[in-house]
Amino acid sequence: MNPILLKDISNLVTCCHFDTSPKKGKSLNDIGLVNNGAVLINNSRILYSGKMDKLGYFLKKYKIPASEISEIDCSKKTVLPGFVDCHTHFVFSGSRANEYEMRISGKTYEQIAKSGGGISATVNSVRKTALKKLKEITERRLTNFLKYGTTTIEGKSGYGLDLSNEIKMLKVINDLNKNNIYGLDLIPTFLGAHSIPAERTKKDYIEYIIREMIPAVSKKQLAVFIDVFCERNYFSAEETEKILFEGKNFGLLPKLHTDQFYSTGGIEAAINTACVSVDHLEVINDKDINKLRDKNIVAVMLPGVSYFLDIKYAPARKLIEKNVPVALATDFNPGSCMTENMQIIMSLASLKLKMTAEEIINSVTINPAFALQMQNKTGSIQQGKQADLIIFDFDSYKELIYHFGVNQLLTVMKKGKVYKTSDLG
Ligand code: NIG
Ligand code: FE
Repeated sequence: MNPILLKDISNLVTCCHFDTSPKKGKSLNDIGLVNNGAVLINNSRILYSGKMDKLGYFLKKYKIPASEISEIDCSKKTVLPGFVDCHTHFVFSGSRANEYEMRISGKTYEQIAKSGGGISATVNSVRKTALKKLKEITERRLTNFLKYGTTTIEGKSGYGLDLSNEIKMLKVINDLNKNNIYGLDLIPTFLGAHSIPAERTKKDYIEYIIREMIPAVSKKQLAVFIDVFCERNYFSAEETEKILFEGKNFGLLPKLHTDQFYSTGGIEAAINTACVSVDHLEVINDKDINKLRDKNIVAVMLPGVSYFLDIKYAPARKLIEKNVPVALATDFNPGSCMTENMQIIMSLASLKLKMTAEEIINSVTINPAFALQMQNKTGSIQQGKQADLIIFDFDSYKELIYHFGVNQLLTVMKKGKVYKTSDLG
């Protein structure tokens, strides 16, 4: 494949970052903007990212003949790193549209879960779906992620709740990561502790997770991360710590769902177990925000959940003021946020979390890459990283947040491969 040159880019948003920890505080407002930029790509990697007028010197130095380069004109265009969605539950079967309607007519997420719906409804469906079918359903979903600009996706198990079905879900992610139509990076997280299955007591299930599930997942190398739903009626902070520590013993990196509905000590558990990220935080209190100060645990906020469930929004401004590194994700799942569209999440982050355009852009690129330990591969347009980038049909990045509900994305590049969004249906 010839080298590809994106030339005359009006706004090249690099999000470049040379630090070993995620962006926080004031640095969240630096998006590494280059006016009139250029990006040169060869064999799926970025060779050059910078000013258009310095490109000639670079080509000469590395003896790259201009005649061999395929060009993409990016005048009046904005180029960003592909979005990194660091919290999703994209492997599932079935629909919970019925529950959505129940919520609209007044029932809460908790009430629906108590009456046998919620996570258990999806567990029943996933258990009945064969691996091949589940893989087909999941692969089809990747198009929607890509179409709106996401090129790296984390995905959790947690709708199996027994060994064979949790492994089935993780196999879907691992198989698709090795081979999916767009070459997207898919990062697997073991979330056996998502809920308690109907056939076991909680005590028994935690023992089962520790004695059987974690060792098996680790032995088969099916997950990078381990996650727990730390919440009233699910897992307590103490139980969460026990499970996460055991996961760590088996080489899994801990992360956490906490403070979505109630504050039950999850932040302390995240600090004690040195979580890579702590996710949700809709109801986190000031004391706990202070505890996260300068810890380098990425606070992943999910404003799509607040919108979809009509609950509180995470206190983004307070977290940023206290120097907590932040990220944004969809939490795409059938119960609490049914969208793959990161651009909607960015609009919500602006209007509801009161984040600046620059903070939002860093929170969907370089910082979530840190939350997935993918910061050396993706999340910014820097020499040596994968060519994961997206081209928008406007000349200033400010348009991205301002113009909402419309996909202005023209082209997605994943590891150097180009996809026109108009061809993605
Ligand atoms: O992140 N909070 C727990 N888990 C998901 C919801 C899962 C579901 O409802 O199916 C979440 O919101
Ligand atoms: Fe989640």
